[in-house]
Amino acid sequence: MKMDSSYGAKWFVLLMAASLLAVCQAETIVVGGSEGWRFGFNYTDWAIQNSPFYINDKLVFKYDPPSNSTSAYNIYLLPYLLSFTECDLSNAELLANSTQGGGKGFEVVLDQWRPYYFASGGDDGYHCKDGLMKFFAVPWPHE
Ligand SMILES: *[C@@H]1O[C@H](CO)[C@@H](O)[C@H](O)[C@H]1NC(C)=O
Ligand SMILES: *[C@@H]1O[C@H](CO)[C@@H](O)[C@H](O)[C@H]1NC(C)=O
Ligand SMILES: *[C@@H]1O[C@H](CO)[C@@H](O)[C@H](O)[C@H]1NC(C)=O
Repeated sequence: MKMDSSYGAKWFVLLMAASLLAVCQAETIVVGGSEGWRFGFNYTDWAIQNSPFYINDKLVFKYDPPSNSTSAYNIYLLPYLLSFTECDLSNAELLANSTQGGGKGFEVVLDQWRPYYFASGGDDGYHCKDGLMKFFAVPWPHE
């Protein structure tokens, strides 16, 4: 799968814009908004719309436990860009299993200045590849 080059370009512009902004409070952001974390929602697009993120912002992933009508979503942190673009889960770290997105959701604090590559690892990469359940966030430092 090829990375959309405009994604990188937009990030660059956003990061440049972010660097010009003044101090901003850490926020709690629900991933996907009212859509939550589900198959088929474009999280790349969501991440662009909701950028920039800042250090100590909290991302909340909300998803139902698996049932007959929904599959088992989860949250993986992928190690680097290539694993993200390829939806390669082999060296990924499981952050939350299929039941941890219930209730108030699963919270991830973006506490380091680094890219965070998120994906759902369900069905051997199918959720990530075909379900668009992946995005990355680079939290910008507060002043
Ligand atoms: C998801 O959104 C991104 C960014 O807006 C866009 O480049 C991409 O084509 C979208 N993917 C699909 C499958 O619609
Ligand atoms: C889910 O599927 C199982 C096995 O087919 C069935 O026994 C069960 O009643 C179903 N549950 C619901 C809530 O539909
Ligand atoms: C998910 O993780 C929680 C907390 O560690 C644990 O209690 C639960 O049994 C796990 N669920 C599954 C399906 O592995």
